[in-house]
Amino acid sequence: MSYFLSVVLFLSFSYYGVECRHKDSGQLQKLKHTDEYDCMDIYKQPAFDNVLLKNHKIQMDPSSLPKFKSNNKLSFDRHSSFPLQAKDNCPEGMVPIQRSRMNNLTDLKSISKLHLGNIRTSTSGRHVAAFHTKLNKPGIYGARAVIDLYNPAVKMDQVSMALIWVEGGPPAELNSIQYGWAVNPRLYGDNLTRATTYWTADGSQKTGCYNLICPGFVQVNPKYHVGIPYEPISSTGGKIYITQPMIYKDPESGNWWLFLDTDLKLGYWPKEILPHFSKAAMFVQYGGLTYSSPNGLSPPMGNGRFPTRNIHDSCFFAQLQTVNKFNNLVDIEQDSLQKVVDNISCYDAKHWGNRYGRLAQTFSFGGPGGICGL
Ligand SMILES: *[C@@H]1O[C@H](CO)[C@@H](O)[C@H](O)[C@H]1NC(C)=O
Ligand SMILES: *[C@@H]1O[C@H](CO)[C@@H](O)[C@H](O)[C@H]1NC(C)=O
Ligand SMILES: *[C@@H]1O[C@H](CO)[C@@H](O)[C@H](O)[C@H]1NC(C)=O
Repeated sequence: MSYFLSVVLFLSFSYYGVECRHKDSGQLQKLKHTDEYDCMDIYKQPAFDNVLLKNHKIQMDPSSLPKFKSNNKLSFDRHSSFPLQAKDNCPEGMVPIQRSRMNNLTDLKSISKLHLGNIRTSTSGRHVAAFHTKLNKPGIYGARAVIDLYNPAVKMDQVSMALIWVEGGPPAELNSIQYGWAVNPRLYGDNLTRATTYWTADGSQKTGCYNLICPGFVQVNPKYHVGIPYEPISSTGGKIYITQPMIYKDPESGNWWLFLDTDLKLGYWPKEILPHFSKAAMFVQYGGLTYSSPNGLSPPMGNGRFPTRNIHDSCFFAQLQTVNKFNNLVDIEQDSLQKVVDNISCYDAKHWGNRYGRLAQTFSFGGPGGICGL
């Protein structure tokens, strides 16, 4: 009997902590948590500082959701927990904007570019263990996966992530939107596993950043914001905690929605900032990414273990899916996946096919890091 049928998987996306200040009233609502955010008028949020969004009409709800085919349902039990209480909501018409503990915006902008530039060109200090679709396969309207959550030990100036990349366009003008979990002390000021977005419209030359560091991503959820910590997370050999994010193109508006879970819309990347996605994206990649500190030491990826024994011994992705032009979620076909690992002494990725129940395509990835090359 497969492992997944015999354990209970917990789905968890809990709020670790917030403190809410209503800008208008100046009241500081102290909650028992540690993060801070400001409730901001939804029409005045950072995205709208982008000149491309001058005439953008905000979209509060998607026109429709991608359809699951019945055989795509998860076959294992799971529990969802969303502990953020209603009292933590921003008032109507407002969205929570996370306060950065890192005050140096110049620095935040530069690490964004450094880290997540064009994945198909090599970048100093960056290492990848992932699977991607065939290059330039037209007609990708979104992507979804189940992602195992871990908290690798990451030191200052290192980064360790598990990501979904959706990309398209020529390399010099590469449009890329990314979502996943990240441990990134330089970005967040701590080493929690946090929900992290990225976008660029030109292969990270002039545009592009994490989260809301540069104007682009539009938040619409009054409870959840980019940068939110995942808690609890999986422990090696113990309970498995997963998240199942989804990115897809709204068939009517053309905006690219980010759902943190099946029913949890966070916001979207407006179509105006992604010219090469006007029809569709062309490339999806799923997997792990690390950045070394300047001294050349790379952090652990995933849970720090190589993928060898079985899927759940290291960090995994399951149920890899893309969205097709009919707005249906479809399983990735096994033979359309290609592996990319740049230093097998440090990290690896292993494809398990769909032998773990009805999880569709699955793989696990990771490794201990170390001196992996710059
Ligand atoms: C901000 O970061 C940049 C780049 O790392 C650095 O050159 C600059 O000195 C920093 N500024 C402050 C005020 O710390
Ligand atoms: C992560 O942060 C906590 C709290 O600041 C600290 O105790 C711990 O040592 C840090 N872990 C690593 C790997 O840096
Ligand atoms: C890959 O990692 C190993 C193990 O740390 C290291 O010895 C080797 O130099 C790295 N390869 C490259 C091409 O940097």
